[in-house]
Amino acid sequence: MAFRPVTTDDLSLMIRIEAECFGGERFSDEDLMRLIDRDDVHLQLLLDPEPVGSFGVMLLDEEGWIITLAVLPECRGAGHAHAMMDEALNICRKAGCEQIILQVETINVAAANLYLRYGFRVAGLIPDYYGPGRDAFHMVLGP
Ligand SMILES: CC(C)(COP(=O)(O)OP(=O)(O)OC[C@H]1O[C@@H](n2cnc3c(N)ncnc32)[C@H](O)[C@@H]1OP(=O)(O)O)[C@@H](O)C(=O)NCCC(=O)NCCS
Repeated sequence: MAFRPVTTDDLSLMIRIEAECFGGERFSDEDLMRLIDRDDVHLQLLLDPEPVGSFGVMLLDEEGWIITLAVLPECRGAGHAHAMMDEALNICRKAGCEQIILQVETINVAAANLYLRYGFRVAGLIPDYYGPGRDAFHMVLGP
């Protein structure tokens, strides 16, 4: 497995990953372009050896925000999310982040389990974050 940064050449691949993994909640094409261009955002692809998933970390002062993390449906259950979490946390720690933060839909058992395994705690509930009746856990790792 290997990581490489997402570039503008990967836009259509990123659109596919986001669409297959997040459906209507995916980043728009314009959002993806903006994120690829930002210096404080690290978007990475995981290759095994073909692309199997991607993640994004935004670095804001002492906070690292995991803004996306997705494994293509046919590639799940093989430890790829573990590999991406390790890499995302490395990026945050190298940047000196004290806290790592993310949001996840409360019914997203696979993702919430993943984050709990890494020591994230539920710091709050955001009602209707993903639309009416669709709440999010605000999860934090660190102080
Ligand atoms: C969540 C997601 C990234 C997991 O990817 P994956 O490659 O299948 O995950 P891994 O095989 O690396 O498993 C990592 C951990 O996730 C959790 N997990 C993964 N699939 C799970 C499932 N079906 N049920 C419960 N927990 C699950 C487990 O804690 C697992 O660790 P363990 O096997 O050591 O117990 C994947 O399901 C996905 O892309 N979902 C759609 C996008 C999404 O919801 N992203 C998160 C946004 S906040």
